[in-house]
Amino acid sequence: MIQIGIDYYPEHWDRTLWDEDFARMEQLGVHTVRMGEFSWCRLEPKEGEFHFEWLDEAIGLAARHGMRVILGTPTNCPPLWLFERHPDALQYDPDGTPTHLGIRGHRCMMSPVLRRYAAKIVGLLAERYGSRPEIAAWQIDNEIESNHCTCPTCTALFRQYAQTKYGTLEALNKAWGTDVWGGEYSSWQQLTPPLLRSGFRRDWYNPAWLLDYERFCSESAADFVRFQTELIRARAPKAVITTNSCFSGGMPDFHRMFEPLDVAAYDNYPPVTLPKDPEQLYSNAFALDFIRGIKQKNFWILEQLGGPMGCWGPISPSMEPGMLEGYALQAVAHGADLLSFFRWRTSISGAEMFCHGLLDHDNRKNRRLTELEGLCRRLRKLPALSDTTVVSQVAVLYSSEQEYALKNQRQSERFAYWTQLRLLHDAVLSMGVNVDVISQNASFEGYRVVLVPTHFVTDPNVAARLEQFAASGGTVVLTNRSGVTDRNAKGIPGRSLPTAFSAMCGCRVMEYDAIGSKTQLMRTTRGGCYRITGWCDLLELDTAVPWAWYVGRYYADIPAISKNHFGKGTVYYVGTVGERAFYRVLMKEALTEQGIETIETLPQGVEVCTRTGPGGGYRFFFNNTLDSQRFLLGSSHMVLQPMEVRIQTVSGEWV
Ligand code: GAL
Repeated sequence: MIQIGIDYYPEHWDRTLWDEDFARMEQLGVHTVRMGEFSWCRLEPKEGEFHFEWLDEAIGLAARHGMRVILGTPTNCPPLWLFERHPDALQYDPDGTPTHLGIRGHRCMMSPVLRRYAAKIVGLLAERYGSRPEIAAWQIDNEIESNHCTCPTCTALFRQYAQTKYGTLEALNKAWGTDVWGGEYSSWQQLTPPLLRSGFRRDWYNPAWLLDYERFCSESAADFVRFQTELIRARAPKAVITTNSCFSGGMPDFHRMFEPLDVAAYDNYPPVTLPKDPEQLYSNAFALDFIRGIKQKNFWILEQLGGPMGCWGPISPSMEPGMLEGYALQAVAHGADLLSFFRWRTSISGAEMFCHGLLDHDNRKNRRLTELEGLCRRLRKLPALSDTTVVSQVAVLYSSEQEYALKNQRQSERFAYWTQLRLLHDAVLSMGVNVDVISQNASFEGYRVVLVPTHFVTDPNVAARLEQFAASGGTVVLTNRSGVTDRNAKGIPGRSLPTAFSAMCGCRVMEYDAIGSKTQLMRTTRGGCYRITGWCDLLELDTAVPWAWYVGRYYADIPAISKNHFGKGTVYYVGTVGERAFYRVLMKEALTEQGIETIETLPQGVEVCTRTGPGGGYRFFFNNTLDSQRFLLGSSHMVLQPMEVRIQTVSGEWV
């Protein structure tokens, strides 16, 4: 059974409301209540003075109403007394000064003082609740980002990280290429985080320094998760532990961060206002496929869109009818087994008092709650869903290494790593084919097509595995700006691009043109002519054959895309960034060659995703647009209302 949950903040409400709130949730058929993640100042209002009675009561009441609790560790917001006594527990900003209190998430995850207090409160929580049947799972902290902290502790730890990695200053200077702009280190003390103040730009700094700092900040976040996980496991070995992730500019390496955790989880806030650009309609599906790819298995949503957003922008428009249910089932279609809605009732105070929950301040039943009721009813009729999962034959490779490096050194206007990922992912999804977004270090077993958008920081191991995958019959699609640097973000001397991938691609880049936002044309061997932008690699073919050529300018008729038979498989190299229609044509060819069936009649914004299991499976059709959509499916016409989800068993019955 897919679990429905609610995010609830007992500390925000008068106790007289709790019982009624839980009773209403019980009536809906809610399975879990998530609580506690910001409540440290209530749990320990003064140093060493702990108050668990209110939490005991809230957990007990939820249980009496048949619900289990997902308990958050409260480390995101340490109490103010802690910072007053220990200012060194504060996070420091990119300019090297302590941050200002008043928002949240302002702790340094590596501060020994913070760790000491965190160990105490998390340890006590785990001792008290860890083995209790009322606890379904633990959420560590809240939306953990890379620990971009520049405090004295982090500075010292960053030095230690570099020292462990490179051993000597000589080795570090060589690896980073610090001879440029006179940046050679002659003592470890000179090494600091790359401090930034307004007017400074990241891309003026040595990219190797930036990349290692990003790795260090990401590793700090992962270490913080590991530290808390161990505290809980030591007291409750059977506990189910996770944390709620979100996409942001400060994303840690999620594959690493989730390693010690049991299940990947995500906060799912799909757009209430649908993107004007219909090509962006698949962005939420991409996020969900990414989260499923973290552990290559089903995942949880710990915050699911329950009302119009506010605080982080002006209040968003209301959710359209069908949106609450549509987005929830979209997540299920992509592999979510638990959906916890954010939040029961809209807060009456604080910065997020207009970031709406399911209920408004008036606490009356409304359209959103009615829709949730319908969703719960619908899911109750599909108990076998949770025995299914999304099985894909196509994978898109992701790596935070590439993300960091390409953020530090922008390659051209209109060229972004996420765009590269999305173009390939969306083309596959738009033809109704399941697609996983996986780590570049994950196994390729079970896949027939592996898509590799811009492998910029070259990992020779990944290159060797891809070569092996293609040689034994798989299809690889590699895009431009691959093989550009070594693992230290330094150029690779004496080899043509795409360096480590040249042999499998059967071609080399003889020249490139970073055309930025200009657009040009390319024509393909399949007859189509497409707009291209951002980047043009001029290819010289060795064993490969051309798949597309540039039109016009001084490189007219020079290959832009190549196709190479390599061993028993095929490798495409895409030297430019095309319009979306082109990726569909390319993907169609790559998938068909591998015998993967596609549906080409799906209108833009209509998604098809399939979950299968030992006893069969379900196909979800989701119309992620505000227009009704009519299209041909096999020999019959199908109509989907705005935001509608229709579910079919794999044997063809509608359920
Ligand atoms: C999430 C966060 C929640 C709440 C929500 C709505 O990012 O974890 O605490 O802020 O967004 O804005």
